[in-house]
Order: sequence, then structure tokens, then C-alpha cells
Amino acid sequence: MNEVLKTIKERRGVKEYLDKPVPKELLDQIVEAGLWAPSGRNKQPVVFLVFTKKEDIDKLREANAAFSRNGGDPFYGAPAVIVVLAKKESVDPACDGSLAMENMMLAATSLGLGTRWINRAKEVFTLASWKDCLEKLGLDPEGYVGVGNMILGYPAAVPEAPERIEGRVFYI
Ligand SMILES: Cc1cc2nc3c(=O)[nH]c(=O)nc-3n(C[C@H](O)[C@H](O)[C@H](O)COP(=O)(O)O)c2cc1C
Repeated sequence: MNEVLKTIKERRGVKEYLDKPVPKELLDQIVEAGLWAPSGRNKQPVVFLVFTKKEDIDKLREANAAFSRNGGDPFYGAPAVIVVLAKKESVDPACDGSLAMENMMLAATSLGLGTRWINRAKEVFTLASWKDCLEKLGLDPEGYVGVGNMILGYPAAVPEAPERIEGRVFYI
């Protein structure tokens, strides 16, 4: 099978990670894949916050968990998190951010890493402390909306692929 199609099918939402950091050169390649995603009117409105320090991930985890009804660690102990935000004024921030997320999930899979989309970036980046984080990075804290958190690391276990629901394709 073509390598891209194979990677698309192999990507899984991983919930178990090894306690092993992701090398910077892999993070760079993954973010590069995100930067190359298409965007409405080529506005390239997406920004990427790469978290690898445990104390920073812990703060983000705590903020994320406060918006979750599920309990437990919303980041499943992953050693890295890439938060995707997009400019509110762009054509469609959620679509632009989502395309960057998928590009990165596929790139990470192709590099032997596991990933999972974790929600609630939108809620977390409405908090004053996380708006401050954007401001410190030189980003307008009112100008961005959180799209998703991509957790990543070396997988300790990869879940079974869920069956595809049939009857969803219509050739007209
Ligand atoms: C928009 C979106 C939001 C998601 N939010 C969460 C989440 O908050 N927590 C979580 O554990 N998984 C989350 N997931 C992961 C999905 O549950 C997972 O992708 C789905 O079960 C299909 O499994 P697969 O990724 O292995 O194909 C999210 C996925 C998407 C696309």
C-alpha cells in the first residue's frame, strides 16, 4: 500500500505512553508538517505551542482537567503536548487548526510516535493565566482561539482500529 495511505490507516488515538522524551528533531518535523497544512485564503493563521517540560504540561493538564467531566489525566501521561490555536479573524479557525492537527498526527505516526487529539484547548485559552502565556509569547491573547491539544510520545500500547461505520459514501 502507498505509504501515505498506510500511515492514515495506522494512526490511532494512543492512551498509553512510555516515559521517554520525544527528541527535538522529531518535534521539529512534526510541527513542520503542521505548518504545511492548507488554510482558508492561505492566511496561515495557526500557531503551535510545544510543551515538553513536565511542570508546564502539569499546569496545562490541570487547566484541561478542570473543564473535563471524565476525571483522570486528560493527557494520559504523554511526555509532550502541542497546542494548536488559530487567529479568530481567519476564514475558519477550527478548520484551519484541524488540518494542522491531522497533518501532525500523521507525521508523528510516520515517525513511530503515538498521538491523540485532546479537546478543551478552546476553554483553557479563555483563562486569564493562559491568555498571559499567549501575551508573553507576543501573541494577541484576544486574537486566538484554541483548536486542539495533540498529545504525543512513544506508545506503550496502540489500540485496535475501530471499525468504519458503513453506508457513508455516496457517489453522485
Ligand atoms: C475533535 C476531537 C476531539 C477529541 N477529544 C478527545 C478528548 O478530549 N479526549 C480523548 O481521550 N480523546 C479525544 N479524541 C480522540 C477520539 O476519541 C479518537 O480519535 C476516536 O476514539 C477514534 O480513535 P482513533 O483516533 O484511534 O481512530 C478526540 C478526537 C477528535 C477528532
